[in-house]
Amino acid sequence: MSNLGFENTDTFLLETRVFPPSPSTVENANITAYMKSKGFDDYDAFYKWSLENRFEFWDDMAKELHWFEPWQKTFEWTEKPFFKWFLGGKFNITYNCLDRHMQTSTRSKVAFHWEGDDGSNRTLTYEDLYILTNRMAKGLQNLGVKKGDRVAIYLPAVPEQVVALLAVARLGAVHTVIFGGFASNSLRDRINDAEAKVLITADGNYRGGKLIELKKLADEAIKETPTIEKSIVVRRLGSDVNMQAGRDIYLDDLLADIPEDTFVPCEPVDSEDPLYILYTSGSTGKPKGIQHVQGGHAVGVYATTKFVFDIKPDDVYWCTADIGWVTGHSYIVYGPLMNGATSVLFEGVPTYPQPDRFWSIVEKFKVSILYTSPTAIRGLMRFGEEWPKKHDISSLRILGSVGEPINPEAWIWYRHNIGHDELPIMDTWWQTETGMILISPTVVIPLKPGSASRPLPTIEADVVDKNGVSVGSEKGGFLIIRHPWPAQMRTIYKDPDRYVQTYWNVIPDVYFAGDAATKDKDGYFRIQGRVDDVIKVSGHRLGSMEIESSLVSHPAVAEAAAIGKPDPLKGEHVKVFVILKQGFEPSEAMEKELKLHVRTTVGALAVPDELEFAPSLPKTRSGKIMRRVIRARELGEPVGDTSTLDG
Ligand code: WT7
Repeated sequence: MSNLGFENTDTFLLETRVFPPSPSTVENANITAYMKSKGFDDYDAFYKWSLENRFEFWDDMAKELHWFEPWQKTFEWTEKPFFKWFLGGKFNITYNCLDRHMQTSTRSKVAFHWEGDDGSNRTLTYEDLYILTNRMAKGLQNLGVKKGDRVAIYLPAVPEQVVALLAVARLGAVHTVIFGGFASNSLRDRINDAEAKVLITADGNYRGGKLIELKKLADEAIKETPTIEKSIVVRRLGSDVNMQAGRDIYLDDLLADIPEDTFVPCEPVDSEDPLYILYTSGSTGKPKGIQHVQGGHAVGVYATTKFVFDIKPDDVYWCTADIGWVTGHSYIVYGPLMNGATSVLFEGVPTYPQPDRFWSIVEKFKVSILYTSPTAIRGLMRFGEEWPKKHDISSLRILGSVGEPINPEAWIWYRHNIGHDELPIMDTWWQTETGMILISPTVVIPLKPGSASRPLPTIEADVVDKNGVSVGSEKGGFLIIRHPWPAQMRTIYKDPDRYVQTYWNVIPDVYFAGDAATKDKDGYFRIQGRVDDVIKVSGHRLGSMEIESSLVSHPAVAEAAAIGKPDPLKGEHVKVFVILKQGFEPSEAMEKELKLHVRTTVGALAVPDELEFAPSLPKTRSGKIMRRVIRARELGEPVGDTSTLDG
């Protein structure tokens, strides 16, 4: 894990301009109002205060939400590294997303402007969402779902997907959402690890005009998931799909006898009770079930949505991520709804039917806050600036980016063509594990292209060496966070040892993020990428081992190694090296077959762009494939320490 290209900072240093915030934005910002309430005009002084008074800050945030019973203690860290927030509090996140708004004018406000892949639209007010969520909660109850049960959700981006999360949380049950782009084996493994009782899926959907037969994939998966008792099927296409009697039920049928005025009380759960498990890739072949709680998670997500995106009552907010990833959990579903925001929910892709899809949606719904990914921006950049120019996108006032480093060139294009050289770009660094944004500008600080800028209030981030010693400015090292924050993961589901080893024991006593970074003299962070075997393809997180395991499960493959290679569009793409078993010959047909095998076992997002048949792979004496060496050789970089290399 040493020697990971910390020296490769050159490309980031080409753009040295600093972009100050506009005075009117600063004056009206949510964060400014909070700073003032604490007696501060100056952000630096406020940030310093927040480090020393983090519990006061988080108490203030928590008080803006509804608690059935208030917490008795803000924080406890007695059984390190395990910690707790808002101890003794009784809470429900769905109450804060929906019920609370039923007593205010937000009730009739639009919660989601939905746009389907095919251009169809649906509008749901907070009240619509509330009614549907109560009915769905009742339906789930009727199927036997109760507090603590796991419910798997495998759906396209339709309003029912949002409702599914909210209904599960309402019951105090635990959702585990599986991205619709995952293939059946990935779905099966996640359901089995979570031991989910119910699966919510759809008959199918279109993405970028391409048919995805979700129900077929789900059927394949639940052949081998003994815990699944029932599967609810949302009719998205209305096509006839296989329905297994006694197990499968259409959502329409489940809800048919449940009237509109059905009320299912929100289960008042403990702050530390689980809200969801979300699987993400790590260094081993087995995805980690990242477990988040109800109380602290809600507080962290609520506050960061309010301060980073500066959401105001009149904003129209659009996060283009998928609810299958953490970005969608925190910043499509929970954060915006707790803030009573109007959002856009989009089922499709940026370039279908044409490369102006995003801009036509911005124009149609008068989007004022746009949160998207560097890959989307780079992809749209390719088509040129005439596409955004076709539309009136003057409603925009804040831009955001997430998922991977945004290269300065893309940052400048985004600012110029979408932000009219004026709008602030929130380059937000965070992770599935962090639950909420940790390093990001707020609209009141100067911006540096390619830098996620500074830790948010109360967050104590640093760049350190492997002993935990700060490396000083402009030097590469490991990104760490010193003190827990409310939305932080609590454990890996069913694997607390792995949680401790992966996040707390790499560098003594601090949270290890798995990223390399530098920090400049102004305290601005530049994230350089993963230092483990995680590959970031278009911002999607993949484990080398997951791809390798898929390949070696093919009868022709003896061994395989997967690495990430820099990619101008996707950030990184996957290259695999394959050793075939005796009796099999390299060929184009074999290459095709192996790629298809990865597609059908893991999912389209994991398919390698490059596949090389190799006679051998560098290994340690104990037989471990040295991906680091393979990668360095491939990129023509210094190979570094190879003292443990075999031969
Ligand atoms: C990894 C976490 C955070 C939600 C989506 C990804 C990379 C994320 C940035 C950013 C540079 C970033 C890191 C991180 N990453 N945001 N703004 N700049 N890198 O969540 O799938 O858990 O991935 O994404 O490498 O560790 P995730």
